[in-house]
Parts: sequence; structure tokens; C-alpha cells
Amino acid sequence: MRKQTATVKVYRYDPKADQGPSYNTYQVPLTDDLSVLTTLQYIQEHFDGGLSFRYGCEGPQHCKCGACAVVVNGQPALSCQRRAEASMVIEPHWKYTVIKDLTVDFRNIVRHRDPALVARQKVAITVDEDACDGCGDCVAVCPTKVWKLYKRKAVPDDIDSCCGPDCGQCSQYCPQKAITVALA
Ligand code: SF4
Ligand code: SF4
Ligand code: FES
Repeated sequence: MRKQTATVKVYRYDPKADQGPSYNTYQVPLTDDLSVLTTLQYIQEHFDGGLSFRYGCEGPQHCKCGACAVVVNGQPALSCQRRAEASMVIEPHWKYTVIKDLTVDFRNIVRHRDPALVARQKVAITVDEDACDGCGDCVAVCPTKVWKLYKRKAVPDDIDSCCGPDCGQCSQYCPQKAITVALA
């Protein structure tokens, strides 16, 4: 039986106005179909119209735009795909600089990560090297730029940034079915 209310701590930071980041905590009705994205939409609608976050496709099965990538309880996630939990800390994806709150600049990668923000729940990615033909589709579809090609083989170069099986774009689009993404 799920609890009736989710306690949601959300990262807030406007680099143009604030001295530094802070967190606001909200109580949100927890329903079985609540996602992290709909949680944020609820907060924006009912408590704080100024909360900034991004989304695009809202996660149809064959198109995950990646715009909604955030960090939930220490694990990168696509907010439209991740089911809400009774207790959540929602932060911006650490790979990118913050524009405001959870909205990041996907063109601007953070070079020196805050070690406190390293993923607590690890993702395991395996690649069948024999099957990989170096087409680069995984590099192209990954919303958080995890992949590199090395000697015409795909290499998961930044696994800490992976949004995990709830994303799974690389695995889905690999024509050779060479990729497996799982929680470690
Ligand atoms: S999409 Fe599949 S075949 Fe293409 S480079 Fe990536 S792992 Fe290799
Ligand atoms: S599941 Fe694949 S496409 Fe999605 S973030 Fe992880 S490595 Fe990138
Ligand atoms: S809004 Fe497009 S993947 Fe979540």
C-alpha cells in the first residue's frame, strides 16, 4: 500500500539572484500513476509557479527527448519515466550548468563535479563488442552524452551520468542489440 503523501525536497537556485543553492520541501499527494515530472508539475501549479524545470516529449515509448533529465535521490533519471516515491530529493543533472532550479544548459558541461553529487545508485552498462559495428546511434540518442566511439566500438565513457533503464534509449535504438542497461 502506497503512502498518501510524498515528501519532496527540490533544489532551488537562480545564479543571477541567489548567493547559493537551497532546497524547498513540499508535500504532494502520492498516487500510483504519479511520476517525478507530474510531481514537479503539481508543485508548480499548487505551490510555486516560479519553479523551473524542463520537459518535452513526456516520454512516449519510442521517443524520449531527454529534456527532463534530473537527479532523483542521487540517481540520474528522466523525470517523465521515473515513478514518484514517498520521499524524494530532486536535483538538477550534475553534468550541466544550472540556468535556474532544475533547468540546465545542455550545451554547457560542468568540468569539475561536486563529489557530494556522485550517484549513490550505480548503473551497469554492458556492450557486446563483437556485435557493435560502430554506427554511433547510441552516441546520437543518449540525452546525457554517456557514450564515445573508440576504434569504431561504443564505449560507455561517463556511466555516472546515465539515466538508467527508465531511459534505455541506447539499448532501444542500437541496431545490433548490443547494449544492456541495468541498475547495478
Ligand atoms: S548503437 Fe549499437 S552498434 Fe551502434 S555504435 Fe552503439 S553499440 Fe555499437
Ligand atoms: S540509458 Fe543509454 S541513452 Fe539513456 S542516459 Fe543511459 S547511456 Fe544514455
Ligand atoms: S520529457 Fe522527453 S524524455 Fe522526459
